Amino acid sequence: MQSKTPSQSRTTMTDMVLPSETNSLNKLFGGELLARMDRAASIAASRHSKSITVTASVNHVAFNMPVPLGSVVTVEAKVSRAFTTSMEVYIDVWMEDVNGGKFKANEAIYTFVAVDDSGKPTKVPALSPETELEKERFAAALRRKQLSLVLAGKMKPNDATELRALFMG
Ligand SMILES: CC(C)(COP(=O)(O)OP(=O)(O)OC[C@H]1O[C@@H](n2cnc3c(N)ncnc32)[C@H](O)[C@@H]1OP(=O)(O)O)[C@@H](O)C(=O)NCCC(=O)NCCS
Repeated sequence: MQSKTPSQSRTTMTDMVLPSETNSLNKLFGGELLARMDRAASIAASRHSKSITVTASVNHVAFNMPVPLGSVVTVEAKVSRAFTTSMEVYIDVWMEDVNGGKFKANEAIYTFVAVDDSGKPTKVPALSPETELEKERFAAALRRKQLSLVLAGKMKPNDATELRALFMG
């Protein structure tokens, strides 16, 4: 399988924040943003793998800025690393206000697994990062995978060599 670049999976979804999607402070519900990010990330993972993909884990979400009612929100998802059957997808969320100002509001990291018609994990192409940011995200993805597996009880902490190296120096 030929390797692919992150830009080949780049998926952007732009939509506004409606009253039914906000809390009592008129800010976007976290769960609504999680759903938007999941949809964009799922499309990015399918573009990379040319397969059906399922969300295996949500590894990290930072709700750094509240997103007010009426804001225009763009969710940008790209595969940041591909392993054997799983892919890390990095999501950046941008917010535009009525004056045209654009801010980075949030970010998140999801893991997707490519599956066949019966739901069995199937191999995905490798990823070749191009930009400095893509290379940074690629390099850190293995320890995030190990952390996610340890937290899910699917890997023994002692086997998480990349993760341990981060703490042991
Ligand atoms: C995700 C799923 C396909 C994994 O199946 P599995 O039998 O655990 O398969 P494996 O153990 O072979 O793991 C497959 C890959 O997923 C990775 N993976 C599994 N759980 C993971 C987790 N919590 N975090 C990160 N990666 C994970 C494995 O490391 C492996 O990656 P690799 O092949 O690239 O090395 C299966 O658990 C599933 O179908 N889950 C439900 C998905 C779903 O419905 N999502 C929507 C939620 S409503």
